[in-house]
Amino acid sequence: MATDEFLKQEIKQISENYTAEKTGGFISGDGPIPCNILFVGEAPGKTEVEEGKPFVGMAGKNFEKFLTSIGLSRNEVRITNTCFFRPIKTKEGTSGRITISNRPPKTSEVNLFREILNKEIELVNPKIIVTLGNIPLKRLTNFKSIGECHGNLFLNTDLNRYVFPMYHPSALTYNRNEEFYSMYKEDWTKLKEALNKI
Ligand code: URA
Repeated sequence: MATDEFLKQEIKQISENYTAEKTGGFISGDGPIPCNILFVGEAPGKTEVEEGKPFVGMAGKNFEKFLTSIGLSRNEVRITNTCFFRPIKTKEGTSGRITISNRPPKTSEVNLFREILNKEIELVNPKIIVTLGNIPLKRLTNFKSIGECHGNLFLNTDLNRYVFPMYHPSALTYNRNEEFYSMYKEDWTKLKEALNKI
């Protein structure tokens, strides 16, 4: 079976050899191996690449707040991504200044890391995989949209593992209303209940 070090080397190699688009650096998963709970995000952003860890930027702050609200700490869970490099887009302003921002990974970019994520899942051997947002949802289930399945526990029969889809924590930034917040909070409560069941 692959080791954590092997995965890191593979991620480095795939990311450095990818020339179809400019990317903004890469990271690997973080947390204990093996681990009962594996959170799978989309792709790292600027802060994640700077600090070399997933979910340490703005979305990560929200994530950690809700994680601790259900009695879990970061060092008890494994956190990884679907695409391991930072997908970026550049824009040139009228003054000629270039700005760099994040973009969602393309399907082809997710597919570059298909085997890596499979191997990480095998290595971590989680009882439950929590997908954060649409990108890992589509990669690990047959659902088309997070709206139709969030907050529920499903069995992925290919992986023979439970998957619990959640909104991406950055959705809180785009949906600044009480209704969304309550629903998101409720999903974390449901995750806690699911963890007690499995
Ligand atoms: N968003 C993600 O999906 N992954 C990260 O690692 C950070 C932010």
